[in-house]
Amino acid sequence: MDGTGGAAIIDGKAFAEGLRARIGAEVARIKAAHGLVPGLTVVLVGEDPASQVYVRNKGKATEGAGMKSDTIRLPAGTSEADLLALIARLNADAAVHGILVQLPLPGHIDEAHVIEAIDPAKDVDGFHLINVGKLHTGMKDALVPCTPQGCLMLLRDALGPLDGRSALVLGRSNIVGKPMASLLLAANCTVTIAHSRTRDLAGECARADILVAAVGRPGMVKGSWIKPGAAVIDVGINRVPAEGGKTRLVGDVAFEEARAVAGHITPVPGGVGPMTIACLLRNTLIAACRSAGLPAPAI
Ligand code: GUN
Repeated sequence: MDGTGGAAIIDGKAFAEGLRARIGAEVARIKAAHGLVPGLTVVLVGEDPASQVYVRNKGKATEGAGMKSDTIRLPAGTSEADLLALIARLNADAAVHGILVQLPLPGHIDEAHVIEAIDPAKDVDGFHLINVGKLHTGMKDALVPCTPQGCLMLLRDALGPLDGRSALVLGRSNIVGKPMASLLLAANCTVTIAHSRTRDLAGECARADILVAAVGRPGMVKGSWIKPGAAVIDVGINRVPAEGGKTRLVGDVAFEEARAVAGHITPVPGGVGPMTIACLLRNTLIAACRSAGLPAPAI
């Protein structure tokens, strides 16, 4: 609580800045000690405007951490065979420690084929089946998807150990919902996954000490659904119309209502969003250290 009767705000922006600074310091250290410069290559196919912004931000953050950043932009008409050939080249390039193919891909390319072509050791998105399986079976060397990893770090920072808490993950995507549930289970939470067919969503939410909302529906989670004192992590980034013909970003949670009930809550923007890129840098650093036989830094 923040003294005004509302939830404590989880400042993901500040946490992500701290994490990026620690990553930058570690990159400088391994560069000086071992001559190792972590390298991330991002591949963008087509001209989707949102993807262009994400890719630009990833490139800037990578350079900001002192890593080598490369962005390969390909035309929307690129064939699947040409994209797979590029990935094979990147897999074989020892200076490339992380490969990220920005999604969504144009409809004529099979995303699963592309993800499975990436060397699992360079799969900094954590989407390859090897990394999915490692996460699911509790193996410590999984590369973990960035957004759920960021949510877990914020929860641990706010709450300490999560053992025994009931957690509800709202959403079952491969990118957020399912890996989030695996991470919370590995952290000894009692985990429920809810989705569009769940019968009593409000009742499921009311039982949750931890609620992670990742459905992409603006303001869907109402304050009245939330267990008093719960930690609410809002992964939604929804653009909605605002005054003056403008737009603004809102989460999946009705923030003001939820804030009055919850113990902790992430804002949108400035909550989970900044953690995704910070965790991408973290995965790239981990992948680079492993490739050189160095222990992965504990950050
Ligand atoms: N598109 C939207 N989010 C992501 C992400 O986390 N990784 C990739 N590769 N593409 C995305």
